[in-house]
Amino acid sequence: MKTTITLLTLLIAAAPAMAADAIVNPLSPDADVIAAGRKLYHSAGCIACHGNNARGAVGPDLTDDEWMRKPTDEMIFNTIRNGRSGTAMSGFSGDMTEEQTWQIITWLKDENAKRKAPK
Ligand code: HEC
Repeated sequence: MKTTITLLTLLIAAAPAMAADAIVNPLSPDADVIAAGRKLYHSAGCIACHGNNARGAVGPDLTDDEWMRKPTDEMIFNTIRNGRSGTAMSGFSGDMTEEQTWQIITWLKDENAKRKAPK
């Protein structure tokens, strides 16, 4: 009985954390973050496959609204860090910090917003 109560208490306490376990971009889209992301996109070599301004080449466009998988922060983060086995997209976790990965993602989002802004 005591064990049951303890387990229940634990489950209730853990519920909010479990519901909020999706990985989300912790950075705010400040100009310096966006600039750092743009720089990293070039220095890490993404440009070779995803093209100028990430508008696509061998790899897909990363600034439009067409994605191969649902474009959650978590999916994009994991794809950049771990790559996709069986494709040319390799993982970059050894080449940059998690914060740098988020900087690139912040820049990609900003490029997407710029494309949508009325000209
Ligand atoms: C050698 C070529 C290559 C390089 C370098 C490369 N990618 Fe990719 N990337 C690809 C390919 C090809 C895919 C599509 C994989 C698939 O078929 O699922 C992809 C997929 C992705 C996706 C998922 C797109 C979607 O629609 O789901 C993201 C995000 C991404 N790459 C980001 C990056 C970033 C950021 C870098 C640099 C750190 C990078 N890639 C470097 C080839 C590359």
